[in-house]
Amino acid sequence: MSQEDADLEARLEEQETFEPPESFVEQANVTDPGIYEEFEENWPDCWERAADLLSWDEAYDTVLEDGDAPFYEWFTGGELNASYNCLDRHVEEGRGDEAAIEWEGELGETRTYTYSELLDEVESFAATLRDLGVEEDDVVTLYMPMVPELPVAMLACARIGAPHSVVFAGFSADALATRMNSAESEYLVTCDGYYRRGDALDHIAKANEGLADVEHEVSDVVVVDRLGDDLEHDLADNQHDYDDLVDEHADASVDPVSRDAEDMLFLMYTSGTTGQPKGVKHTTGGYLAYTAWTARAVLDLEADDTYWCSADIGWITGHSYIVYGPLALGTTSVMYEGTPDYPNKDRFWEIVEKNEVDVFYTAPTAIRAFMKWGEEYPEKRDLSSLRLLGTVGEPINPRAWKWYYKHIGNEECPIVDTWWQTETGGHMITTLPGVNDMKPGSAGPGLPGVDIQVVDAQGEEVEAGEAGYLTVPKPWPGMLRTLYQNDERFIDEYWQEYSDPDADEWVYFPEDGAKIDEDGYITVLGRVDDVINVSFPEDGAKIDEDGYITVLGRVDDVINVSGHRLGTMEVESAIVGVEGVAEAAVVGGDHDVKGEAVYAYVITEDGYDGDSDLESEIIDGVVDAIGPIAKPEEVIFTPELPKTRSGKIMRRLLENIASGNELGDTSTLRNPEIVDEIAQQVEAD
Ligand code: WTA
Repeated sequence: MSQEDADLEARLEEQETFEPPESFVEQANVTDPGIYEEFEENWPDCWERAADLLSWDEAYDTVLEDGDAPFYEWFTGGELNASYNCLDRHVEEGRGDEAAIEWEGELGETRTYTYSELLDEVESFAATLRDLGVEEDDVVTLYMPMVPELPVAMLACARIGAPHSVVFAGFSADALATRMNSAESEYLVTCDGYYRRGDALDHIAKANEGLADVEHEVSDVVVVDRLGDDLEHDLADNQHDYDDLVDEHADASVDPVSRDAEDMLFLMYTSGTTGQPKGVKHTTGGYLAYTAWTARAVLDLEADDTYWCSADIGWITGHSYIVYGPLALGTTSVMYEGTPDYPNKDRFWEIVEKNEVDVFYTAPTAIRAFMKWGEEYPEKRDLSSLRLLGTVGEPINPRAWKWYYKHIGNEECPIVDTWWQTETGGHMITTLPGVNDMKPGSAGPGLPGVDIQVVDAQGEEVEAGEAGYLTVPKPWPGMLRTLYQNDERFIDEYWQEYSDPDADEWVYFPEDGAKIDEDGYITVLGRVDDVINVSFPEDGAKIDEDGYITVLGRVDDVINVSGHRLGTMEVESAIVGVEGVAEAAVVGGDHDVKGEAVYAYVITEDGYDGDSDLESEIIDGVVDAIGPIAKPEEVIFTPELPKTRSGKIMRRLLENIASGNELGDTSTLRNPEIVDEIAQQVEAD
């Protein structure tokens, strides 16, 4: 490292606040700091600003309908179609020849879809779905990897008013079956397979295995052919080849149906505290307005930008910020099929260079991997097209933030650290890149119009610098409307904790801890679990003197592996399903690259040994039930689990053991001696 670099490094290390670069501010979509006050004074009508970004078939009567809180409704009386907003209107405005999607295949092949081409294919597939019998409000399941046919299918569903339910392709057959059963979905669009690090992976076999466990009749399955001759597979009678169907409907034109603002746009299943994933319901008007607004204000997107979000569309980030938000704004959205290190560790930077990407959005787990590989990879490429960087999915530590700022952004790009959730639909806590200073590690204040408080267990706001729980006392347009067919669980999961139903006061509880500073900047801190009342405020969230909030992490039993949510209960139930396992406790432990990794503490049944065979069976069991992302980093066999006197497993201790942290107070345990025993065993492994 040169002296100059070393000086720079030292300076960056010390610096705690970063001003947005002048060159960025000059061109930013939002630059007036008065926007916070303006939104507060005009709330909820301020959200008309978001709705105005869309084309409505029928104007709405009311911005917010709160008569049946927390079942809020937004833009009621309004009608619109999401696919019209993402496609037709751009073509009508004469932008049909501009690129909507730039697809980069893992093997190096590329495909460009202009807005006109994307619209044509969406219409053909919409006509196909209709011919297969899909009607408005039928849930269509999409179990697909990162191929362009996935956004095509989503928009085709939206066009005919059929909600989609995308199941991440990395999830297992079981996960597919559970989600199709829960949504009573009779249609599936899937793919023969895809490439991973050059190998052809069989996906259709997994889809078929899942279909075998669907409890109702599945009327049709459409299969995209990604692998050609690299995979031979047969189609059953109700299975059709995507290309054949689209060719048959090549000239079809399908009018977008007018959907009520509150009609469901899609379902997305996400991990919760119990074994069953939650079907988060998002609607058409509020969600689309919110994703378009945040894509414009936070990601600073404009129609002529090329923008790349490296998430998978199988997660909410891809829904909101690869498909709906950017396309509603008429942006070019880059979509990459593969992994960051194939064929080389500079693959991402090659994609940025080649597409002259203006705005790049990724996860801290990826940044930590890039740091590990070294700056020589980004240095080989011309990244000067970039003007803004973003992160999502988990807290970013200041070191990774600064590496990203320097080595990817060349100190010329602001970074937005965006805190949000599947349930929130879009960004909630983040700086506005053309307005606020940045504080590495702290996500920033709540967005204009988004009320965020960090409170203690009683619901009182904490002092600046102290840890507490994140709460959202006011509704926002992108919020989930309910859990699919389970209003009761919706209330239990999100509203029970801090609301006062008798006074009709409803407070959304995201189940994350955070702290906030005097500037109102919020730092998300780390997961707070069910024994938090004993050990709080070790974890949670904080707010600083500027009101910047640091989100500390989940307060429930959800692990964040590489920015992906996994319910500990889901993993535990997979493990106890393995023969020979009596009991299991799963926790997240610190991991350099993944952020958190899965650690499984297992008690065997009498007569079974905790040996490597059983360990392999447990690992296979988890991968089969959920998918490779849930694979335990370590399986620790133990004769007992540390329990409180009331019989609750003390997860915090197990987490500390897994992370190699101080164990803390064990005096409330019924069996304190077991803790050392387990800790020694983990060290020995
Ligand atoms: C965590 C992903 C800290 C948090 C969009 C949240 C974050 C969960 C951040 C939602 C961030 C997301 N800083 N933590 N910038 N972004 N999280 O539903 O715990 O997959 O509750 O949505 O990820 O995960 P989900």
